[in-house]
Amino acid sequence: MSTDYEFNHRHLLGLADYSAQDIQYVLSQADRFLEILNRPVPKIPTLRDKTIVNLFYENSTRTRLSFELAQKRMGADVVNFSSSSSSVSKGESLKDTIRNIESMKIDMVVVRHSSPGTAHFVARTVNAAILNAGDGAHEHPTQALLDMFTMRQKFGKVAGLKVVIIGDIAHSRVVRSNIIGLRKLGAEVIICGPKTLMPPSPDELGVTVSHDLEACLEWCDVAMALRIQMERQGQGLFPSLREYHERFGIKKRHLKEFPNFTIMHPGPVNRGVELESEVADSERSIILNQVTNGLAVRMAALYLLSGGQRI
Ligand code: CP
Repeated sequence: MSTDYEFNHRHLLGLADYSAQDIQYVLSQADRFLEILNRPVPKIPTLRDKTIVNLFYENSTRTRLSFELAQKRMGADVVNFSSSSSSVSKGESLKDTIRNIESMKIDMVVVRHSSPGTAHFVARTVNAAILNAGDGAHEHPTQALLDMFTMRQKFGKVAGLKVVIIGDIAHSRVVRSNIIGLRKLGAEVIICGPKTLMPPSPDELGVTVSHDLEACLEWCDVAMALRIQMERQGQGLFPSLREYHERFGIKKRHLKEFPNFTIMHPGPVNRGVELESEVADSERSIILNQVTNGLAVRMAALYLLSGGQRI
């Protein structure tokens, strides 16, 4: 894609707001950042005049660390906010928190929160570029971008790929962003899981619904397993983790029975639930490639939303 593409976004709140061309452009920029990350000195000064706040109201390993590392690789001043060690524990509201942080002259905010719509609320409230790092069960756009980047790296393209997404579809922001992005780029998507972990009207997502894991593994190029949210155990959504694994977990024997599919997972993996350990660690798994690529994709997103000084 041409480097003079007009990228007209101030924020990255969700992939619903991005066209197929916008998504392709972010991925093409991520190619450039991946090359930079492979240099002996993987640093560039693109964000040296920017101050960025990572505002995390929910726990995170991959998203938080890769955003922070991306910002530091690009020379930004970085401040990390964690709700548990802040004045939120004294009752300060989200609105007051972000308006106080804005008063410290920040340029960009990366926000994760358990409530859907938080990133949009922050974008309406402060005058900074906002990147959504996950808002409840709504969207997780950088996760879907890094997933599509990883598929494109493995298969050369996303268009035409057959992708099955397995697990807790109802409560997953990863699946929502992936369905939006994958459909825009021309992939075929099936969602697979127990009926109790499907949203009320799954057909409205514009994808096929299945409850037959093995038929999906035979069909697909990519099997993306989602984390079973352990906190939902005991809510009657699935009988037990053992039974979930029995019906919807990918097992070592599946690697032999269905020799073509590639395994992805956004993390964190519950070993022995979504995936047997041997599957997570097998040569068919590109889970750690997803993590590596997350850094390049987040650098690309930060670069584009910062105004995109030439690199
Ligand atoms: N994939 C993902 O969002 O992981 P973290 O919760 O560790 O950031």
